[in-house]
Amino acid sequence: MHDLNLVNQKRYAVTAWFYDILDFPWEVQYRKWRPEIVRDVCGEVLESGVGTGRNLKFYPACVNLTAIDLSAAMLKKASRRCAKASCAVQLVREDASQMQSIPSQSYDWLISTFLCCVLPSALQDQAVSEIARVLKPGGKFRLLEIKYSDIPELRRRQDLFAPFVRKIYGAGFDRRTLAHLQNNPKLEVTRTRYLKDDVYLLIEGVRRRM
Ligand SMILES: C[S@@+](CC[C@H](N)C(=O)[O-])C[C@H]1O[C@@H](n2cnc3c(N)ncnc32)[C@H](O)[C@@H]1O
Repeated sequence: MHDLNLVNQKRYAVTAWFYDILDFPWEVQYRKWRPEIVRDVCGEVLESGVGTGRNLKFYPACVNLTAIDLSAAMLKKASRRCAKASCAVQLVREDASQMQSIPSQSYDWLISTFLCCVLPSALQDQAVSEIARVLKPGGKFRLLEIKYSDIPELRRRQDLFAPFVRKIYGAGFDRRTLAHLQNNPKLEVTRTRYLKDDVYLLIEGVRRRM
């Protein structure tokens, strides 16, 4: 495993214990978005960076879900939420930037929420290539990410928060996930929209048929 991921793996071994409590103020907002993010997905679905499993209960019954995460401690938390899912769920410990156990061209959908803002910048291209590899031609992806605002007041607040977010979650507002997706020739970004301010960015797209 890449050293940069090792740091996050160690971080989440600790963060997992208080993740849901710490995240609660934000989760009040996120839980309004989560059902929308997965409501129309069906078939073979891969959720990358499943965390404590906050999206699990919203997947429709027509989904066969493989949910991966780097952290065994986070997966343990997610396993408690599997009972609330209406679809079949397999939890797998796997690195999103190098999905060795995940076969190529086998998923209809790839979903992730707040994963790429945690992935180090140096691994973004690799992670995006993996999305392209595991999706079937015509398969779709939908990612919710957090980024720096262009509004000075919001940006100042983010700058204040940045050291905390980096230390606890390993996350940054400076990842350029959208650009990495747009640069991958196998992927087409079909829609982007902000769910709140110019910070919470929902990115949708498709694996080209080539
Ligand atoms: C900020 S949390 C988001 C969790 C969840 N998706 C949510 O919406 O609440 C980021 C998650 O990504 C996982 N993660 C970090 N790096 C990863 C990697 N390289 N591969 C897979 N998962 C990773 C962490 O262990 C953590 O569970």
